[in-house]
Amino acid sequence: VCEVPLRAQRGWSLDPEELLSAWRPAMKLIYLCSPNNPTANSFEPAAIEHICKTLDGKAIVVIDEAYIEWSRGASLTPWLQRFQTLAILRTLSKAHALAGARIGALLGSADLIQLAKRVIPPYALAQSTIEAALRALAPAELTLSRQRVVSLLNERERVHRALKGSALVEKVWPSDANFLLIDCHDAERFMRDSVSAGLIVRDLRGYAALPRSLRVSIGAAAHNDALLRAVGVP
Ligand SMILES: Cc1ncc(COP(=O)(O)O)c(C=O)c1O
Repeated sequence: VCEVPLRAQRGWSLDPEELLSAWRPAMKLIYLCSPNNPTANSFEPAAIEHICKTLDGKAIVVIDEAYIEWSRGASLTPWLQRFQTLAILRTLSKAHALAGARIGALLGSADLIQLAKRVIPPYALAQSTIEAALRALAPAELTLSRQRVVSLLNERERVHRALKGSALVEKVWPSDANFLLIDCHDAERFMRDSVSAGLIVRDLRGYAALPRSLRVSIGAAAHNDALLRAVGVP
């Protein structure tokens, strides 16, 4: 596996030239996550397009769109008409609140799907999982998911603004996802105060590029309020 790390100085943006110069013909799969976890940003469509144009037919370019529902940018699914070896991953675990069912979708050209079918084991999905997915995708449930997304987007903006007022927080990164990446003046205290309030914040300090960072998931308004109180937001 060859990793091409994102950098804070570039706002975690994707540098297609850097990725393409690291690519070798033996590398058959390029994995991009947009919006990305845990940096929360989406990559520029032009940067992804450059990679797709250069590598189409040479490698499978996978774009993980697990967080696309909260993004300002659109899904790249229309590009499936343009690129034979583009694959887009979607999940029902996030916006559709179906994490327990463990189901999502691979979108790609007919050839790519044929290839995937050769390696997927038979009966990979339980019948109950399929039924849960179909229920989640029925019109009434889709309306509810969209409403949840809209209220989360409002909460995300509110929590973003409020966290900037915490003395423990140095920077709140722009987010296209259902969480916020924050750089802390005092990450230890932020963690401790959140845990004391019964809230779990994801510690990212183990990542070399994120020595002072935490990931805060956006929850219901009452949970968000509890977090803000715990970290001393006035
Ligand atoms: C980028 C990304 N893709 C996919 C997933 C998981 O999706 P699933 O629950 O469908 O395996 C996650 C879960 O956190 C994620 O962060």
